[in-house]
Amino acid sequence: MRKQIAAANWKMNLSLAQANQLTDEIVATSHSLNEHQLAIFAVPFPYLLTVKEKLKGKHNVFVAAQNCASTKNGAYTGEVSAEMLDGMDIRYVIIGHSERREYYGETNKILAEKINRAFESNINTIFCCGEPLAVREAAIQNSYVETQIKESLFHLSAAQMTNFIIAYEPIWAIGTGKTASSDQAQEMHAHIRSVIAAQYGSDIANSVSVLYGGSVKGANAKDIFSKQDVDGGLVGGASLVAAEFAIIINSLK
Ligand code: 13P
Repeated sequence: MRKQIAAANWKMNLSLAQANQLTDEIVATSHSLNEHQLAIFAVPFPYLLTVKEKLKGKHNVFVAAQNCASTKNGAYTGEVSAEMLDGMDIRYVIIGHSERREYYGETNKILAEKINRAFESNINTIFCCGEPLAVREAAIQNSYVETQIKESLFHLSAAQMTNFIIAYEPIWAIGTGKTASSDQAQEMHAHIRSVIAAQYGSDIANSVSVLYGGSVKGANAKDIFSKQDVDGGLVGGASLVAAEFAIIINSLK
């Protein structure tokens, strides 16, 4: 069975004191994760080691970075390399979040390079894709997401694509309280899987975890995650409340 994943994306939120408090609450909350289920906490760079230390020993719980550089190392002021994350034993990184694409000009091509850097450092990528509202209204979301996937992922080998993680996050559903319906999520997730199957075959496509992101909360997680091709969620706002995110974790298939 492919991995079912509840991933928290704290984005650029929380002071150090607040991050410590939230992590302590997460540690104190019991999660029932089985061998196919993971909880991943993508926290701001400065908090990675502290949060990782606090979560140490929690079964199937990992810490992730929210970004990494497309270049290896060197004179790139302000950047954080995949090699640095590897040195800190950070095993997951979010790449291609719509906020990175929109505010920092990250193109499909740049994202392909970031994914390469992550692979070189043995870090698992959570690759984000998803369409803006205008694209959804024009009903061309399938081809839009297909292009994102082809341009950023199709250079990967079959081995690299096996067990890969993709997060489908429709931009119109991020932070808006407006969730895609579970049927809309299922439809796109099935499409994403078929795009991968056409290139890599159905066994590999079936090994890929496809998470849904966009206003996931405790109240809707079970319904969304129940869909056949939805393998969990990437969660912003609701991940900043330990009890709420615990409900989301416990809603995994
Ligand atoms: P919200 O859950 O706040 O809508 O954010 C989703 C998201 O962008 C997660 O990466």
